[in-house]
Amino acid sequence: MRVRSIADLSAADLKGRRVLLRVDFNVPQDAAGAVTDDTRLRAALPTIAALTAAGARVVCCSHLGRPKGKPDRRFTLAPVAARLATLLGAPVHFVPHVVGAEAEAATRALIDGQVALLENTRFEAGEETNDATLAQAFARLGDLYANDAFGAAHRAHASTEGVARLLRPAVAGLLMARELEYLGTALEKPKRPFIAILGGSKISGKIDVIEALLPKVDGILVGGAMACTFYKAMGLETGRSLVEADRVEMAADLMERAAYRLTLPHDATVAPAIADGAKAHAVHRDAIPSDEAMLDVGPETIASYRRAISSAKTIIWNGPMGVFETTPFDAGTKAVADAMAEATARGATTIVGGGDSAAAVEAAGLASRMSHVSTGGGASLEFLEGKPLPGVVVLETVGA
Ligand code: 3PG
Repeated sequence: MRVRSIADLSAADLKGRRVLLRVDFNVPQDAAGAVTDDTRLRAALPTIAALTAAGARVVCCSHLGRPKGKPDRRFTLAPVAARLATLLGAPVHFVPHVVGAEAEAATRALIDGQVALLENTRFEAGEETNDATLAQAFARLGDLYANDAFGAAHRAHASTEGVARLLRPAVAGLLMARELEYLGTALEKPKRPFIAILGGSKISGKIDVIEALLPKVDGILVGGAMACTFYKAMGLETGRSLVEADRVEMAADLMERAAYRLTLPHDATVAPAIADGAKAHAVHRDAIPSDEAMLDVGPETIASYRRAISSAKTIIWNGPMGVFETTPFDAGTKAVADAMAEATARGATTIVGGGDSAAAVEAAGLASRMSHVSTGGGASLEFLEGKPLPGVVVLETVGA
């Protein structure tokens, strides 16, 4: 179902009105609290800019980290407000309260086009329990509600779900709408061939997404250490590679049901340990030495995955192909990113799920060459698994 977004609102809906805007500003920081990756802030700028241009008074709220329901200065959003102001090129009024009289007064002091950022929503115990009283307190901070926090849409929290039931209209922001459009279209009406590339270390984290995608895709290409659990199921030697012993049976069952639609790496780049990059070498998958570990897909696999990507029209990627933080085990991940950028240029739809694969694409400088890079890690995975996202369901319900 399509959710209404701020683009569907009229000028009268927005001018002079306080918009409580849930954003996902859960960003990485260094030890001093400085923001080290502002991707999620930049992703919210179009929504904030559209609202301020329409004369709205924008009250942003977000969680940051997992502070366990009470104030913890390590998780203050103050440095995030400063970075947001720089990116916006306009002041951002940081409000050192989440809810309450002072927070409400701060929202009422805004004039048309101004932006405020409240303190971390997870400083309130009722946030993660979706407490009704806290949701009411949030509702006093806005005249209407917009949710741009796709990355937190899989959480039924007071600021993502409860408050959306109380303010009208309650709509999606532009980022949320874009995420749902790209991910939703890929799943519902993909241009074919449609392939998924799934990597990462554990099959247990990807099993639901494999199950959900199998009936929809023309093929799934597997990478990362999770390939080794499949190798084990095939009776191959996996050496020191990470294998989930309790998932071997599941892997065998999956291979049987998926048949030709599931492709495993033909070869592997192995080494005695991650630190032994200089000793890395490629072996066929049935020749992994007993004292070495698979740390990346091998060159034959890279070549064949490149070919598959180049002939697909829709490609979804989630999870790295190897230990991409360490050279030379980043080759498979980089090659997938590169091949996807080329696929975008020839007209394919390329979608990168959030988390590690998004970070790898950013690091390779290729983010702008993908059709869409999701800002949601857990949220994009749950979406691909076909699970309802509470932060989206509520917008569908109240907007219907
Ligand atoms: C994320 O970073 O994936 C989101 O902000 C959700 O964070 P959480 O896993 O702490 O709920």
